[in-house]
Amino acid sequence: MKNLTADQLREMYLSFFESKGHKRIPGASVIPENDPTVLFTTAGMHPLVPYLMGAMEHPAGTRLTDVQKCVRTGDIDEVGDAAHLTFFEMLGNWSLNDYFKKEAISWSFEFLTKHLGFSPDQLSVTVFRGEGREGESGYIPADEEAVEIWKSMGIPDERIFRLPREDNWWGPAGTTGPCGPDTEMFIDTGKEKCGPECRPGCHCGKYIEIWNDVFMQYNKNAEGKFEPLGRHNVDTGMGVERTICMMSGAPTVYDTEIFAPIMAKIDELRGTGSGEQGTDLGEEETLRARRIIADHMRTATFILCDPKGGVKPGNIGANYVLRRLIRRAVRYARMLGIGEGFTVKLAETICEKYSHVYPELKANLEQCRIDLEAEERRFNATLDKGEAMYRKVAEQLKLHNQTQISGKTAFKLYDTFGFPLEMTVEMATKDGLTVDKEGFDEANRKHQELSRTTSAGSFKAGLQDNSEVVTRMHTATHLLHAALHKVLGPTANQKGSNITAERLRFDFTWPEPMTAEQKAEVEKLVNQWIKDAIPVTKKMTTVEEAKAEGAMALFGSKYGDQVSLYSIGDISKEICCGPHVENTSELGSFKIQKEQSSSAGVRRIKAVIGNM
Ligand code: ALA
Repeated sequence: MKNLTADQLREMYLSFFESKGHKRIPGASVIPENDPTVLFTTAGMHPLVPYLMGAMEHPAGTRLTDVQKCVRTGDIDEVGDAAHLTFFEMLGNWSLNDYFKKEAISWSFEFLTKHLGFSPDQLSVTVFRGEGREGESGYIPADEEAVEIWKSMGIPDERIFRLPREDNWWGPAGTTGPCGPDTEMFIDTGKEKCGPECRPGCHCGKYIEIWNDVFMQYNKNAEGKFEPLGRHNVDTGMGVERTICMMSGAPTVYDTEIFAPIMAKIDELRGTGSGEQGTDLGEEETLRARRIIADHMRTATFILCDPKGGVKPGNIGANYVLRRLIRRAVRYARMLGIGEGFTVKLAETICEKYSHVYPELKANLEQCRIDLEAEERRFNATLDKGEAMYRKVAEQLKLHNQTQISGKTAFKLYDTFGFPLEMTVEMATKDGLTVDKEGFDEANRKHQELSRTTSAGSFKAGLQDNSEVVTRMHTATHLLHAALHKVLGPTANQKGSNITAERLRFDFTWPEPMTAEQKAEVEKLVNQWIKDAIPVTKKMTTVEEAKAEGAMALFGSKYGDQVSLYSIGDISKEICCGPHVENTSELGSFKIQKEQSSSAGVRRIKAVIGNM
């Protein structure tokens, strides 16, 4: 195996595919040009959708190759392990209704083994196992063709894994468009299997996915059905960071030459923070914190320097994702005792590392500096407030001769002030106090329940930061409920609700289809409330008091003694466990997609909120 740099790998890849008749095309902006379905470019296919669909011909022909900057935040919690990143570079080769499986697979194999020097023995692959029954609607056959091609390359059957749609189907998650079965290539790191079920796709770190060949011969239509596209496209994606990592034998992507200067800068900056800030994390947590800072700052720098521009730290959509990345980096930096101003210093290091490949980093560094500095300063002020809150909590405990911070309080510090549990625990330890971590987990679990709805996508999905979208949908649901009461009257009561990152679904009692005017009126009201930027507030109270205040709730349900009552100005009051956004302005535009019967006397609305 060769030990390549990312620069060498990009060049080798592009020239290899040029030698197979492909034209090099430039990668696109990381902020999507014309695609409202994603907050960021998450794969090389997004900018190429019209050509994949056959809506127009690509000026460079039917065989293309490129490097695409991608941002995926769906796996943000896994960042800091060996292979997950929120920003990565994806190498791609494309057939626009030109070659198909045989060429794609054999070229992947040739490049991996002859050019990069991986041994065929290190390779395991996965293929789509098919679904449905022949002759029935929805039937899609297993990809035995891909299996046969892999076998002809010398990959034995025991290293070809036939997996379901969750693993081996690619298309833009939740949206319509070109898609199809894929075959994914994994490098076996040689680690022990984590159990008898361990196989490519398992997250234990034994198998690392480095390349995916997608055979786009289907179109997902508006009803969610897969219809033949009438074209056979190939969309492939090879991860630069993971491939470099596997080639160099580095234990994680952060231990490669790509991250070396960034990690070195982080280490140089440690100890520059004020005395209070540095905490003594364990070895593993320190490692993770360093990686999270490196990853998030790399992503934030690429977003802020993007040639399309326009994404600033803020409270909505892509702006909010950016804010969250920067703030998370700031929090971890404080834990490592890194002083103020580090975001700009890291952006400069990242710019130095990459600007020969991405000149926009140099061109836009000045504005990036200004934005980072302002956001870092703002958030540090918030965290200082959090620390002050912690001090009050600690004083109160001491006053009452108590020694434990409750889980609820620790969660409040985290949830309301962005004060991480680690910081609470660290400060508490110094003060001779303990923290009820189980209670914290319990409070956190409740909060998380809503964010897990669309975790299936893993490496592939991650179109948006799901938990944030779900939170916004949740507040939109309360507005919808309130609007239905206004337009249809107080008998239009909630019967059920279900939220995914793609849409909200709301069932309510109503005897007949809503008229077009009623639907338009409901949409108008909700959108007006969003425009009005109404604050969302929460208080703890009892069910009786909440009812007395006129709160809505699923009164058939069981609630505990204390319930949280969410109010949206004087528009809505509902008993609910949240989470919600802080202000309706965070929602984006609201649209009813469908209004249909759910069961006798119950109607169902499906609605979406757009990105603003
Ligand atoms: N579009 C495919 C992916 O992102 C190649 O995995």
